[in-house]
Amino acid sequence: MREDYMPQPIADVSPPRWHLGHTTWFFEALILREFIKGYREYHPQYAYLFNSYYQSLGERWERIKRGHLSRPTVDDVYAFRAAIDTRMEEIICTCPEENWLELEQLIIIGINHEQQHQELLITDLKYILCQNPLHPVYRNLPDDAWPDVMPSTNLDTWVEFPGGNYTVGYTGDGFFFDNERPVHTVYIMPFTLRKYLVSNREYVEFVRAGGYTDFRYWLDEGWSWLHREGRRHPLYWEHDDGAWYQMTLHGYRPLAPNAPVTHINYFEAAAFATWAGKRLATEFEWEAAAQQTHPHVTDGQFQDTGIYHPLSPSPSETAHRLCQQLGTVWEWTQSGYLPYPGYKPVEGALGEYNGKFMSSQMVLRGGSCATPRDHIRYTYRNFFHPDKQWQFTGIRLADTLSD
Ligand SMILES: [Fe+2]
Repeated sequence: MREDYMPQPIADVSPPRWHLGHTTWFFEALILREFIKGYREYHPQYAYLFNSYYQSLGERWERIKRGHLSRPTVDDVYAFRAAIDTRMEEIICTCPEENWLELEQLIIIGINHEQQHQELLITDLKYILCQNPLHPVYRNLPDDAWPDVMPSTNLDTWVEFPGGNYTVGYTGDGFFFDNERPVHTVYIMPFTLRKYLVSNREYVEFVRAGGYTDFRYWLDEGWSWLHREGRRHPLYWEHDDGAWYQMTLHGYRPLAPNAPVTHINYFEAAAFATWAGKRLATEFEWEAAAQQTHPHVTDGQFQDTGIYHPLSPSPSETAHRLCQQLGTVWEWTQSGYLPYPGYKPVEGALGEYNGKFMSSQMVLRGGSCATPRDHIRYTYRNFFHPDKQWQFTGIRLADTLSD
């Protein structure tokens, strides 16, 4: 609905209209301005409104106030998009051979950037709709689209991986973000990962066992967060007449016991792992595991399925050594988001894309049901502050093996 394009309930959640304007501005600011001599911007103030965080590209409208504006209208922003698409087509068709490689690389970055915002569009729309007591539905799904099947094997099944030196970082010849390089070697102790993601049923046990009232499970900052926010259960859960329900983009539904728990922040994930007597994986353990289990993007639940909620494992996923490693939910790791050894941001505005966020955030791996399928790879590093819950984030338990 048009009305859904405008709200910004919290700073993290941008209005859908802003996502559309911002991804369009990205092509204008980073490509058209560079490639067309004397380029005149589509609108003199759109850069001010739609620049997100690029200091080198000028002043910006304050992030928390993106939802304060009723103009430009949604139609205005679609017109902006159409105009920029036309100019992009022109420069693609007229680009001299010697400039093509540079233009092509910038377009690929623009598309990957837009894919990131396509995911945010879904998670932000979820926050906008699911905070609403009217329980609006983004898209209705038939009941049989939600099979809640208990895996035939024990959830407490573990897969062991040998210790040793592993090469991590992107080594292929396709697109990658600069934070996936330099490729380097890490030593990893022998470790084990749980085959299955932590399910809602298990997380309910944690809640029932007093998980949110016992400081022993929580990191100090997490314990402060829990009290500050008054949290007793994950985001979007509601307890009603003895049963748990959750808001989804497909309506208000009973909590599916066998589906992976989601909208868990790092503090909650770490607390659950501590309660379970385990830990979270490091980002390198996750990547080293993927190198050996070879999950394929065609098997995972991604955005293109049109089901914007993590489903319980399908029989084909259960056949994999690690179930639901790609797609479904982003897996929190216990690795801080830091530069790889020798990392240097590129010159110019694109140097602000990843590098300047390398403090106080944790790495997540694997993609989610809201991630475009062809956006993810084994080396892909997502990152969020440890208190963030609004992404489709979940838990895979890990443990260290003795030699
Ligand atoms: Fe962006």
